[in-house]
Amino acid sequence: MTDSLRPLFLTLEGGDGVGKSTQQRLLAQWFREAGREVVETREPGGTVLGKELRELILHGGYVDPRAEALMFAADRAHHIATLVRPALERGAVVVQDRYLDSSVAYQGAARDLDVDDVRGLSLWATRGLLPDATILLDLEPESARLSGPKDRLEREGGEFHAAVRMRFLDMAAQEPERWIVIDASGTVDEVQAAIRAALSSRGLSAEPRP
Ligand code: TMP
Repeated sequence: MTDSLRPLFLTLEGGDGVGKSTQQRLLAQWFREAGREVVETREPGGTVLGKELRELILHGGYVDPRAEALMFAADRAHHIATLVRPALERGAVVVQDRYLDSSVAYQGAARDLDVDDVRGLSLWATRGLLPDATILLDLEPESARLSGPKDRLEREGGEFHAAVRMRFLDMAAQEPERWIVIDASGTVDEVQAAIRAALSSRGLSAEPRP
């Protein structure tokens, strides 16, 4: 299959307020300018059902940690089956804000659920779909740029967010062939340039190979 038809599944991960959505938009633009079909999506909330689940999980009252893990997994199952897999089957590039690693970091490490259970639940939900590359935008929680009213998870304390960050870094260290760790403390342009360079060095560039 030529590069221009090869489906690509890229996910962005990191703590709250690290700039994922800006970087997602710029990354999508890179592939679009190279003539690719790009699907920009996110979890939770990439589908109509997902938007309802997102509202319930993030803006409702207390949710039991196991119920929370199941709701993120339900959003994910529906999103992958109805939007992401069909896009990949058409040969599109999917650039996604958060995926199963967010569940491992937030519900697994920081909520004290068994990490293997949480990961297993998401793998079951998605029939084992893993990204071609996962970009971790790494930033100390103290430097995060949060705007607007905070959601239920953003309101968690500093210890929670520090545990989430450590879990992301651990996952990246354990699976370096999938993860790309980017220092997110630079300017928007510097961070985007670092992402593009890292993808290119792995043969995942938007530019066709010479
Ligand atoms: P967002 O604001 O980056 O879209 O993410 C919504 C919040 O949900 C964020 O605090 C991270 C959290 N989250 C989880 O706890 N588990 C998950 O599986 C996902 C996808 C997000």
